[in-house]
Amino acid sequence: MTIEIVNHTDHPVEICNFDKSRYVDPGFMEREWDGVWRKTWLLAGLVSDLERPGDFFVFDMGREQILIARTSKGSIQGFFNVCQHRGNRLVTQECGHADSFRCAYHAWTYNVDGELAAVPYEERFADGVPRKERALKPVHTDVWSGFVFINMGEDPEPLDEFLCGVPGFLDPYRFGHMTLVEHQTVHLDCNWKAVVDNFSELYHVDFLHPQHKRMVDCCNDTVHLFPNGHTGLAVPGATVNPRFPVPDEPTDIQTGQLMNLGLDPTDYVGRVMEIRRAVQLRKREIGADRGYHYDQFDDEQLSDVWQYNLFPNTIFSFTPEHLWILRPRPHPTDPNRCEFDKYTLVMFADPELVTGSDDIVSIGRASTRIEGVQPEGLKRPQRDVFSYEAVIAGKKTMTDTIDQDVELLSGVQAGMRSEGFDTTWLNDDEMRIQHFHNHLVLLVGD
Ligand code: FES
Ligand SMILES: [Fe+2]
Repeated sequence: MTIEIVNHTDHPVEICNFDKSRYVDPGFMEREWDGVWRKTWLLAGLVSDLERPGDFFVFDMGREQILIARTSKGSIQGFFNVCQHRGNRLVTQECGHADSFRCAYHAWTYNVDGELAAVPYEERFADGVPRKERALKPVHTDVWSGFVFINMGEDPEPLDEFLCGVPGFLDPYRFGHMTLVEHQTVHLDCNWKAVVDNFSELYHVDFLHPQHKRMVDCCNDTVHLFPNGHTGLAVPGATVNPRFPVPDEPTDIQTGQLMNLGLDPTDYVGRVMEIRRAVQLRKREIGADRGYHYDQFDDEQLSDVWQYNLFPNTIFSFTPEHLWILRPRPHPTDPNRCEFDKYTLVMFADPELVTGSDDIVSIGRASTRIEGVQPEGLKRPQRDVFSYEAVIAGKKTMTDTIDQDVELLSGVQAGMRSEGFDTTWLNDDEMRIQHFHNHLVLLVGD
């Protein structure tokens, strides 16, 4: 078993563990609000939800709500979602298109640029209405790779400085060209960091996700540590976990992957460890004809699963054809709760490139599946919001793997609340957790 660690910072990461109060203490939560959420760039949503001027969505972030709109001039701008008359929440719809935003209380109306455009009975304000001053309060807004980021701070560092080097690794995946096919939010009874921690280590995978031994090699991964608390991970895919006996025949998942690429699984009986390489070569061979721009990837990227975590709360899990954005958001007041979003995006084939008619259209996730061209009339899915109890009851699913995580996390939080637990005890495989927490305490204090 080899974990390769590539440290892009100028200091080593030492495992030093930390107190459980970070997960349960309202005082720590309050400090997080000031030190993290109010001052850090946060992934708020997708540029694809803001195609035309007047398109908007609302980003719920703890006690705040940010309204993000495509302005009349075509730029993207975030505002606190608060009417400047007496502070009512302005927009109550989650997303949509508007010519203007009208407050339900006294009908003050703002245009999509946030300017105060209309005030009923304006002559009754003895001092007039200083419309410029009463425009919606903007927040810093920027865009990278098809994602909208906001920052509530006064004078934040530019977004690309904050991302410090991560885009160089992720830009070949062209996330901005992917299409949203599923959007879910589950309410969880755990602190938001319990979710980040969970998606920062592979130590639990053999035990909580036994199905993974049929598709990825969690023993030979590469970890990247970046400044500002960001981390990355590359896990070999289209293979099996060598910690377990290697099967003679391709696993069911490998079989699907091979067939999807037009390869015969029976050719690989007794050669299961050769499948990853075969997948890479085959994708190189047929990728362009199937409409995929694989030339910007190295061979490993064609078979492997990557997972990058942007500080504080954005987790990207992806292959060249698929992306999950996983994002826990803190509860407004309770450290024991959070909301957990999952966006699923796929890279459809570039129709300009496709030759022949054997494209396979399959919406789902497997590390080497090629999607084919986008089905006609595909609409942006509505967000589905549910409780973790619905996941446990089998009424909702976020895929087997994430369901397993979701089912577990309330138990972690319950344990954190117990007087029978004090501090974490981390191993080297949990280095990304430590790195994330080291940056957190720089901002928040210990
Ligand atoms: S609070 Fe919005 S118009 Fe009065
Ligand atoms: Fe997991």
